[in-house]
Amino acid sequence: MSKTFYVTTPIYYVTAKPHLGSLYSTVLADIAARWHRLQGYDTCLVTGTDEHGQKVAAAAAAAGKQPQVFIDEFIPAFRDTWKRYGIDVHHFIRTTDTAHKHAVTTWIQQLQRQGDIYQGQYAGFYCTPCETFVTEKDHESSDGSAPKCGSCGRATSWMEERCYFFRLSAYQERLLAWYRENPQWIVPGERIQEVISFVEGGLKDLAISRSKATVPWGIPFPGDESQVVYVWADALNNYLSAVGYGDPNQAAEFARWWPAQLQVLGKDIVRFHAVYWPAFLMAAGLALPERLLVHGWIKVGGEKMSKSLGNVIDPNNLADAYGVDPVRYVLAKAISVSHDSSFSIEDLEQRINADLADDLGNLVQRVVSFAVARKMTALHVPDVFPAEEMLLLADVEALCQAASEEYDAYMYHRALAEIWKGIARVNAYVHAQEPWKLRGAEHDERVRMIVVTAVHAMAHLARYIIPVMPERMAILSQRLGVNSESLGFARVYALQAGAPLFPKIEQKKAEEPMNPAETKSTQQADASCITIDTFAQSDLRVGTITAVDIVPKSEKLYKLTVDAGELGVRTICSGVRAHFAPEDLLGKQGVFVANLAPRAMMGIPSQGMMLFVEDAIGRLQLVSPAASVPNGGRLR
Ligand code: MSP
Repeated sequence: MSKTFYVTTPIYYVTAKPHLGSLYSTVLADIAARWHRLQGYDTCLVTGTDEHGQKVAAAAAAAGKQPQVFIDEFIPAFRDTWKRYGIDVHHFIRTTDTAHKHAVTTWIQQLQRQGDIYQGQYAGFYCTPCETFVTEKDHESSDGSAPKCGSCGRATSWMEERCYFFRLSAYQERLLAWYRENPQWIVPGERIQEVISFVEGGLKDLAISRSKATVPWGIPFPGDESQVVYVWADALNNYLSAVGYGDPNQAAEFARWWPAQLQVLGKDIVRFHAVYWPAFLMAAGLALPERLLVHGWIKVGGEKMSKSLGNVIDPNNLADAYGVDPVRYVLAKAISVSHDSSFSIEDLEQRINADLADDLGNLVQRVVSFAVARKMTALHVPDVFPAEEMLLLADVEALCQAASEEYDAYMYHRALAEIWKGIARVNAYVHAQEPWKLRGAEHDERVRMIVVTAVHAMAHLARYIIPVMPERMAILSQRLGVNSESLGFARVYALQAGAPLFPKIEQKKAEEPMNPAETKSTQQADASCITIDTFAQSDLRVGTITAVDIVPKSEKLYKLTVDAGELGVRTICSGVRAHFAPEDLLGKQGVFVANLAPRAMMGIPSQGMMLFVEDAIGRLQLVSPAASVPNGGRLR
């Protein structure tokens, strides 16, 4: 029997489209599933929508629509966003699904039979945005006025109605024993203490129904037409119904997946998942999930995202501007699982440029382009590496191992930090080896060794990036000539040139003046000005002139051979023969335009333009960096 890994996300209220916070919960679950799939597990990711209750009904009423019509309109936004973000959804559960409603009814009927449910009268405060009965411990008001909700801080309202109660208090000791025996049950570890304190403070029985007169939108309460199931008692059961609970035809499916190995949720809904949910499961005689991963909030401008503050970020706008995988990377790397984290576009762009374009993207581009230029595309991994290369690969292996442990602990930001140490190590190796200086056939063997070592190390590291950036790692696999599954295990590579994996983002916002009028006063734009965007289209690079040849039948032209580092070796024709003897230019570093369309000059294809400037007496001078820099360096 294969190993299974079942992971869930919270099911989202359908009162708004998905935002960056809901994307975060979902991406964390997807990374966990992909990581386990890589380890040979069969995986099941369940996400979906929480569609009943007062909050949804009120939103539908405000929109002047029937609840079901209102909800149905939102569903494509969720499904499409998750699809776009590469979330591998095994089952998308909706709490209005017939099978789910049946599962909830079955569960309540079992509890009724056992005597876990009794009728009573609720009198207390209720928070509709959180759909929570406010406990006395959460009351913040001391003057008798309606208290603010302890979770969201919004106003609560008084509620007094007949309802059914679940004997939560009867599970207090069993819950405390569970926490004591499973101190690792909640990740991060410190959160379990808050839960223990809450339960030790004494558990009151929990209302699990609402009067149909006030909340008509819900699952009918079994045996009492005047009541509907309380939305959290309904919603939490999605984790069971999604994998077949309550359906005799799906008993095998349910046994295959339940209990879940991981349940992802935000810190605002810990009590529901760490207190009520395990008690519900205990009452049903079912096993508890193996782990809860509780993440902090993403804050924008110092505040939790909310419609009223107008700081909600739409994941689709981010995907349009930056691509899906870079956004997944930034969520996994920049947002700490354990704490609240700030999110800003400046930081996102800075990380894309530094970590993705400069560190990883550049390494791939540099090594692959160089190998292609030196016609070393078919590479066999040797059985034995020389000492220095062995050391590099051992370092990379150790970092991958550390990343693996972090993945197992669901600490993705730390796993990625280990992998990026590996990328820096490979970059430093390539830089120190300077294979571009090893010209001529006598160096081919050594150059090949450097290339295969760098490629092999990159492939190892890339395997650990797949769960976070599956789509870009699939492209990288193609560039290396291996399929994604064997990334990190290949013995043969077939390299292919291609566009950069991570195009650099022009960080407009950081550079724009606070007040655009300021620039106008100091520098009037006129027809001769170009925009920074136009200038950024030029790719100016530094290269060393390694050969200067006279072009037969031309009095003006030199054919320059230029070592352009990661861009390989370029041939550039320059009409400067009248100004320089070959030895004046030989071995010099110069600046050249690297992205001019190639053109033939006296039958020689010229792949760029070397730049010169006239001095005071009309002689041309080569434009060079003031000090030696690595070839291929980009002017900025
Ligand atoms: N419907 C309930 C969950 C029921 S699960 C049986 C719910 N829905 S929600 O749409 O309000 O929130 C769902 C998840 O999104 C929660 O885990 C919440 O923490 C997360 N996020 C919502 N905003 C967030 C941020 N700004 N940052 C990170 N995650 C946050 O609660």
